[in-house]
Amino acid sequence: MASKTVLTGVKPTGTPHIGNLIGAIRPALKMANATDGQCLFFIADYHALTTIHDPAEMRKLTREVAATWLAFGLDPNKVLLYRQSDVPEVFELSWVLSCFAAKGLLNRAHAYKAAVDQNVEKGKDPDKEIFMGLYCYPVLMAADILCFDADEVPVGEDQVQHLEIARDIAQKFNHTYGEVLRVPKATVQEEGAYVPGLDGRKMSKSYDNTIPLSADTKRLRKLVMKIQTDSSAPEDPKDPENSSLFSLYKLFAKPDQVATLRERYQSGIGWGEAKQLLFEAIEAEVESPRKIYEELLAHPEQIETILAQGALRAREKAGAVMERVRQATGIANP
Ligand code: TRP
Repeated sequence: MASKTVLTGVKPTGTPHIGNLIGAIRPALKMANATDGQCLFFIADYHALTTIHDPAEMRKLTREVAATWLAFGLDPNKVLLYRQSDVPEVFELSWVLSCFAAKGLLNRAHAYKAAVDQNVEKGKDPDKEIFMGLYCYPVLMAADILCFDADEVPVGEDQVQHLEIARDIAQKFNHTYGEVLRVPKATVQEEGAYVPGLDGRKMSKSYDNTIPLSADTKRLRKLVMKIQTDSSAPEDPKDPENSSLFSLYKLFAKPDQVATLRERYQSGIGWGEAKQLLFEAIEAEVESPRKIYEELLAHPEQIETILAQGALRAREKAGAVMERVRQATGIANP
């Protein structure tokens, strides 16, 4: 049997931050190094079009995501990195799949259902401001996956339903035409470490409490100094388990440094000093990737070249799958 294909996509809807590094980038790069199969990572820009409607923003976010992955160590010679919109076969397959996606199945998709429920709750027309892009999102995602014969799709818990929908559509297609599409499996990433934001809530773009990976040294320090702490005096003992500052430190510092800070918490440490230690630990990890990141963004043509090379190889794979689909359905030159 051919080696296994692992595929995942990232929607470019926000500037990458420390939460993304811990929750997505680190685990994906680790997985890419561990697998003996083929890894495909792509930027799901057409999925982002459901929410990003500013063209400059779309371009910027797409490049930022690509530059971040490359800066933190993705090797484009090992991992196939491409932009979804560069592979037209995906959109052709998306239509084919929509002919095998039951409407009732899509009615039950969480994101769409939540939007309808919200309208109903507010006494509005259930369809108000709901677009077909949101409704068909799971079909496009199924095409992303099925177009590459993916075996495994590492995703977070929130994407599991989308994977089930992709499997369902693939099975329905195969039931009609024989084993044409490879039925993928979700590998659910275990709930990664909780990454608190500046205000102690989960770090998230929607809470506006993130530390962007691209923040320069000065800004990074400033943001770390903004992390909320209590009003205890420097000499007061502090509880490391109840401190977001400490939780963040654990994600960046070495085990002996973590042990030292734990002791200092118990014997009393000023918040300013603790923040300085956290800043230094983060800076140590992001300093050199940031240089690569800045270099790439200053020369976007370098990013574009890598993406174009990725797209070429991706299209070869997607084209082969699409050819099977055309033959199977009779949509093909005889
Ligand atoms: N929907 C995914 C998310 O929001 C992104 C995505 C699009 C994706 N297509 C995919 C993930 C295919 C895995 C496989 O995170």
